[in-house]
Amino acid sequence: MSFPIIYLNETDSTSNYLKDLISKTTVEEGTIVCSEAQTSGRGQRGNSWESEKGKNLLFSTVLYPLFINTYEQFIISQIVSLAVKECLDEYTENISIKWPNDIYWQEKKICGILIENTILGDSINQSVIGIGVNINQTRFADSPNPVSLKQITEADHTPYYLMNKIHATIFKYYRNIREGNAKEISEKYKASLFRAEGFYLYNDGTSDFEARIKDVKQTGILVLETREGIERKFTFKEVRYIL
Ligand code: BTN
Repeated sequence: MSFPIIYLNETDSTSNYLKDLISKTTVEEGTIVCSEAQTSGRGQRGNSWESEKGKNLLFSTVLYPLFINTYEQFIISQIVSLAVKECLDEYTENISIKWPNDIYWQEKKICGILIENTILGDSINQSVIGIGVNINQTRFADSPNPVSLKQITEADHTPYYLMNKIHATIFKYYRNIREGNAKEISEKYKASLFRAEGFYLYNDGTSDFEARIKDVKQTGILVLETREGIERKFTFKEVRYIL
């Protein structure tokens, strides 16, 4: 299947560009906006996204998943992270998904995902998915814990080849969930998690504690189990991994 692709030299943010376009005209599901550079690349928690011009993959796409209920919107994060992981697996080993949707190589972040959903009634009527993959950049100024594909493989790579693969894989998983296979996707997501097995240090905003990942709920809530066998549940901003 082919989708419209808008190639830009520079924009503030591919996600902003796409949302602006959607507000002005009809934009086909799956339309891609990609750019060589962003002047105000946005990350999660109001952070910025660093990317040297022409070095990395920066793109956004849109879904209109009206069949997804608001309480199960985390499935979108799951399909996008699984798609990115699956595509990066072709280049290297040790790619995992750091809950909720960072993509890691070993203990470092190679890709960030920003998902912005709009709700209509109790459904998701629009999901703007922004993906930034560190490809050929080798020096980072202010990203915490970054790594690029070039640093891992010691070779340059073509960002737009990877973009097409990730996009096609997102749509493969999107069709899966439309056909009712969300359970299978969630199991695959859990099996792909960073630190899926074993005890590690976490911080709840007050103190560090040792725990292991027990589950990720349909709502995206992370369930940890402490060494003492106590279950603790966290939403996205409530817990931090100690790396
Ligand atoms: C994160 O904080 O990990 C999410 C980073 C998401 C960055 C991508 S780059 C393409 C798209 N446009 C943006 O402004 N942000 C996303």
